[in-house]
Amino acid sequence: MTKRKTDLEWLGDHLRILTEASERVRSIEPTVYNDFNAWTTLKLIGVKFWQRIYTDIIQEHLELLRKECMAYLDVMAGSGLNRIRDADCFVAGSSILAALVPRKPFHYIVSIESNRSRAVALEKRLIHVRGNQTSFKVFAQEADAAIRDALGELRDRKSHFMAFVDYQGMKGFSRESMDALLREPCDIWFTFFPNIKRSVALSEWDEANLETCRNFFGRRVFDRSATYDDLIGNWTQELLLRRQILYPFQIQSGEGYSYELVFMTKRTKAGSPYVNAADDLKRRLDSIKGDFARMVLQVLTGKQRDLDSYFSGRPPFSL
Ligand SMILES: C[S@@+](CC[C@H](N)C(=O)[O-])C[C@H]1O[C@@H](n2cnc3c(N)ncnc32)[C@H](O)[C@@H]1O
Repeated sequence: MTKRKTDLEWLGDHLRILTEASERVRSIEPTVYNDFNAWTTLKLIGVKFWQRIYTDIIQEHLELLRKECMAYLDVMAGSGLNRIRDADCFVAGSSILAALVPRKPFHYIVSIESNRSRAVALEKRLIHVRGNQTSFKVFAQEADAAIRDALGELRDRKSHFMAFVDYQGMKGFSRESMDALLREPCDIWFTFFPNIKRSVALSEWDEANLETCRNFFGRRVFDRSATYDDLIGNWTQELLLRRQILYPFQIQSGEGYSYELVFMTKRTKAGSPYVNAADDLKRRLDSIKGDFARMVLQVLTGKQRDLDSYFSGRPPFSL
């Protein structure tokens, strides 16, 4: 029996992959990157973990699914390179991880990024790691405007795909776009932020917030829900009609903030390996927080020698 990794070993191994992947693209457009704090690496680890699980499993089932292409759709993809401000280092972004991490590579990658210079940098980085321009496409457009063409492209290739919608709040990918995605053969990951509750409260007297909320949840669901809990219940019910498994993972900063990374998939015969892997990921993300990731990143990148300041009172541990 293989020994289960400690959280430190597990986190160290995943963070090492994120930093090493960034080194592959770091010299391309070196001044263009997204800026985050260390707890963002926990989201990236979750998505990267699933890129591998998804490709391992779906590759085996493509024929059964009557599909020819196993693809990845990154909505709000970023530049492919992320600076981690509080650990003073770089990690790869979600599209670059999709290109580098799977043992059985995605046949096709579609990335949507509205910021022109980030989209150009991502395209150059993808050319570098994919080695050609035919196995991916970057849409330098707003996600709501690009989604139909992006989904058409995936449909033309007879794809089953993993989608990641990396909301930064509630804007940019409407309920209508999410519905279009839900109609396609795909598993979906998206981020869900707690400040959405504040927008819902403000929407009672603020027209701009009202429109944002209607756009995100869908006007019908929003207007018939009396309370926030009602709204989340009704919205979730509608998502569950399309995807029977809805699995939230908490991403915790370690300083009192958190948000959710949500996974949606259909219940299928291949369900059980998925559920086991999701349980495993959930256990890790429940116990690992952003401040721990920051310390481990600092050790990995040589900014700090050991973790004794984190584990005060315990013997120092070097990676
Ligand atoms: C959280 S970052 C992406 C990080 C990336 N997914 C990763 O994990 O490495 C969100 C990105 O979405 C882009 N963005 C914001 N609004 C957008 C929209 N409406 N359509 C497409 N991209 C958008 C931003 O420019 C930013 O680069």
